[in-house]
Amino acid sequence: MSEYILVIDQGTSSTRAIVYDRSFQSVGVAQQEIAVNCPQDGWVEQDPAAILATTTAVCRQAVAQAGAGATIHSVGITNQRETTIVWDRATGTAIGPAIVWQDRRTQAHCQALRARNVEARVTAKTGLLLDPYFSATKIAWILDNTPGARARAERGELAFGTVDSYLLWQLTAGQTHATDATNASRTLLFNIHEQCWDEELLQLLQVPAAVLPEVRDTVADFGKTSAAVCGFSAPITAVIGDQQSALVGQACTQTGMAKCTFGTGCFLVANTGKAAVASQHKLLSTVAYRIGGEVTYGLEGSIFIAGSLIQWLRDNVNFIVSAAQTEAIAAKIPEDNGIYFVPAFAGLGAPYWDADARGAILGLHRGTSIEDIVAAGLHAVGYQTQDLLTTIKKDGIDLSTLRIDGGMAANHWFNQFLANITRVSVQVPADTETTALGAAYLAGLAAGWIESLDSLGEYWRAQQVYTAEMPLEQQQKLYKGWQRAVQSVLTDSAG
Ligand code: G3P
Repeated sequence: MSEYILVIDQGTSSTRAIVYDRSFQSVGVAQQEIAVNCPQDGWVEQDPAAILATTTAVCRQAVAQAGAGATIHSVGITNQRETTIVWDRATGTAIGPAIVWQDRRTQAHCQALRARNVEARVTAKTGLLLDPYFSATKIAWILDNTPGARARAERGELAFGTVDSYLLWQLTAGQTHATDATNASRTLLFNIHEQCWDEELLQLLQVPAAVLPEVRDTVADFGKTSAAVCGFSAPITAVIGDQQSALVGQACTQTGMAKCTFGTGCFLVANTGKAAVASQHKLLSTVAYRIGGEVTYGLEGSIFIAGSLIQWLRDNVNFIVSAAQTEAIAAKIPEDNGIYFVPAFAGLGAPYWDADARGAILGLHRGTSIEDIVAAGLHAVGYQTQDLLTTIKKDGIDLSTLRIDGGMAANHWFNQFLANITRVSVQVPADTETTALGAAYLAGLAAGWIESLDSLGEYWRAQQVYTAEMPLEQQQKLYKGWQRAVQSVLTDSAG
């Protein structure tokens, strides 16, 4: 009888489950796409019941694939971060839709808070900014816009959680209301230095303490899955936000190492070791992982739209029928076609932080084709990554290599363009499912399958390395054009 680790990777665009053997090779994989609803400009929602239903379905499918004798030794959970769910403790049912991290509806609340000159204090405690991206103002919105919710929350009848917490509650049949320090560090309520919910922030952001989950280490006892819910009963031993998980999956466990994940959004995270680096340029200081009570920090640049731009090209405007097509299309379009696509569909994240900005396509002329626009979409993701690299350099981290992963890392043309624009060595690992892999390693650590995170380097192998082929002069010209394009969509309210 073989024992395996099962990882749930609940992302914004899809839910996956992967079953790993002792050498961290996958023996079962299942995936289901999940709908994202945008009922108004700036609103982005998901159905919590669909988050759960896709999770239990992929768990069952992945375990079935692993074979009849497969036993799940333990479970790791990694998840889209910040997305906010409030549910009824008595029934486990959410009291409304999940408000997704990309949602901007609380921009006015954030602006009002900024006007009170409290942002520096909030940033000092949380490593974050007063932006709708994070959970706190989303919780307040739900409590203030669902009849009776605030009073019920204060009476202890409601629970808040990011997606990890919600899944923990559901998969353990209501036994566990917890989160881990990486997910807590994205709420705007968690003091990353003292590692606790912060009384002052709870007051400021109007969140009753009674709704909060308990914050545990990233590797901890999170209770047992209920066989009735997901088909097997096994201990959940690791919980980690997806970007931090990819950092571990990329074996970036030494100070100064960095990865960039091109999923729904694009997130560059550098390991800063025991130091929580206070960015001077609007990057985020965040918990990379907390193991045995010891915190490792990360410095993060968050871009809201990457893979979701490709989805938009496919689903909203039907310019392509599949993401894979973009590679061949971009390859035949000259990079200097003069078209710039600023995908500020959900405002702009790092380093601009302009929640009111909206997207634009610039440089259109009579001969512009759909292909030009598709190519400009891929270019935009490369330029935004360069924005992050130049910003992190200003904060003292000068990267010469970047380990990349996520769906877009399967696109060779994009990877080469990225190397051309960023001028760093772009490295794609052999196993690009690094988000799930990180959680598998952490559950493996709990199981004693690996000794320490320092040994992860032994597992990491580059599949392909890309270096700049474009002349520097051309890169400079293209990137300047991008900077001009971004300036044209920024609004006065940028914080
Ligand atoms: O902060 C949001 C991030 O965790 C979402 O990740 O994988 O859905 O792009 P992803």
